[in-house]
Formats: sequence, structure tokens, C-alpha cells
Amino acid sequence: MKSASKNKKKVGGTLASRSRSRVPPGRGYSKRPFVAATFAMTVDGKITTKNFSPVDFTSREDKMHLLRQRALGDAVLIGHSTLKQDNIRLGLPHAELREARVARGQSPYPLRVIVSNEGRIDPSLNIFQTDISPIVIFSTVRMPARHQKLLRAKATLHLSDARSVDLAWMLQQLRSEYKIRMLACEGGATLFRALLEKDLVDQLNLTIAPYLFGGANAPTLTGLSKTFFPRSIHCSLTEMRTIGEECFLTYRIRRRR
Ligand SMILES: NC(=O)c1ccc[n+]([C@@H]2O[C@H](COP(=O)([O-])OP(=O)(O)OC[C@H]3O[C@@H](n4cnc5c(N)ncnc54)[C@H](OP(=O)(O)O)[C@@H]3O)[C@@H](O)[C@H]2O)c1
Repeated sequence: MKSASKNKKKVGGTLASRSRSRVPPGRGYSKRPFVAATFAMTVDGKITTKNFSPVDFTSREDKMHLLRQRALGDAVLIGHSTLKQDNIRLGLPHAELREARVARGQSPYPLRVIVSNEGRIDPSLNIFQTDISPIVIFSTVRMPARHQKLLRAKATLHLSDARSVDLAWMLQQLRSEYKIRMLACEGGATLFRALLEKDLVDQLNLTIAPYLFGGANAPTLTGLSKTFFPRSIHCSLTEMRTIGEECFLTYRIRRRR
């Protein structure tokens, strides 16, 4: 493997490395967790290809970066489509990450949280085959009864009467009922966009990988929606590192209300 040159820059001198220290949610996070989303994208802003199949376009360093971000969370949040496409367990394979969590007073693995409006979640997905940490599903009563029965054996279900999950309410529940202070969101784009629209994202960890995919039908960080946000969302760059040919960026997203 090519030897990685590591250049790390603080931008505006504001932030210590988030990859090593747990982010202490500051004032104003008593009602919901601090939400940090982690994504990798190509140089032209794509997070996957047009058929949404799992695509490996980042380095081992980036995969470790994702795990470190996951390890910081009291819980990890994922949208149903990403869970289905990538079929991930949301575990922490490296003992040192689990040990660091325990040393910080966290459980060895973060709580695993799935969000789905329709609730047609396949109980045979890999995530349900490991009991490393509890699984919580936020969905609606649209979830078919058969799925409810099978999933209740593997997870705690929170089903709302509305057509879609109220994400602000979901975060409040995670804070009050599960004591989640730090939430690591692993996408995908549809969920990320929905959180952004509700002003519910505090930090974006973004890796730029050295590829161009092209194509209008491959989703960007905010999906395939052609709609503009009502107002552009300002992202303050707080940290920038280059390792090899990848750039690791940390943005703080300020609350707008
Ligand atoms: N490069 C990266 O860093 C990265 C990161 C993550 C994902 N990805 C890729 O992105 C693709 C998936 O992204 P995606 O945008 O299609 O899917 P997604 O955001 O993972 O999931 C979308 C689904 O989540 C549920 N959902 C979304 N918003 C919701 C809300 N407000 N309330 C309740 N449920 C909500 C819905 O599930 P139901 O349909 O069940 O109602 C929706 O269909 C995959 O190909 C994955 O590999 C890439």
C-alpha cells in the first residue's frame, strides 16, 4: 500500500480532533442528542452509483474513520434503504474502539437505531443476527402486522400513527428514554436530507474520495431531490486532514432557529 502522508489542519483554530475525543454535547442538547453524520463522496459529490448498490470507493483509512465516528456515538442511526442495501451489522470490530468506549463510560457497542416509514424491514438482515447491542426501530403503524411480530422478537419498536416518523420527536425519545447524548448518523442521503430540513444535524464528517462517477441518477449527499432547501445551509469547516489521496473534512452545522 502507498504510504499515507498525513496533513491535518485546524481551520480557524477552533477544534480538536473529533476522531480521538468524545464530543461532549454542550448546552442546548438537553432535549435531543448531538447529531454527527458521516459520509464519503466522490469528487463530483456522489455517495453511490445509480443502482444504489454497495460500492467500495474509499480507503481502509476511511473505513476506520467511519468506525471511529460510530464508536463515538451512544447510538448509531441508519435509514432503512442503507441498511437494506449495505446489510451491515453496525458493530465495532476493533477491540480498542470498544475498550475506549468502556473507558469513557459507554457500553461496548452503540445502541443501533433504524428509521423506516413503511416498516417493511427484513428480519433476516445481518443486523438482526447479532445481539451486540439493543436495536430500536422508529417506524409507523404502516408496518405490516407480520413484520411487527417478527421484529418485536429482535428489536424495540416505536410506531407512530402518522404517515412518516417525526424525526425531531424520535431524537427527543432517544435523549429522554435511552439517554443518548451523542448520535452517529450513517445516512443515507434521504434520511440526512430529512434531518437537515428539520435543522437536526450538528456536524458533518465528510470524506472526499479521489473518483468521479458522473451521472444524474447517482445520489449526492442530499439524495436525488431536485428541490432546493428553503435556505442554503451554512457548513462551517472546522477541521481538514488529507491522508493519501483522500480529504477528511469536519463541518459544524449551526442551528438556524
Ligand atoms: N457514501 C456514503 O457515505 C453513504 C452513506 C450512507 C448510505 N450510502 C448509500 O446511500 C444509499 C441509500 O441512501 P437512500 O437515500 O436511498 O436511503 P436512506 O436515507 O438510507 O433510507 C431511506 C429510507 O429511510 C427511511 N426514512 C427516510 N427518511 C425518513 C423519515 N423522515 N422518517 C422515517 N423514515 C425515513 C425510509 O424508509 P422506508 O422506505 O422503509 O419507509 C426511506 O425510504 C445506499 O446505496 C447506500 O449504500 C452511502
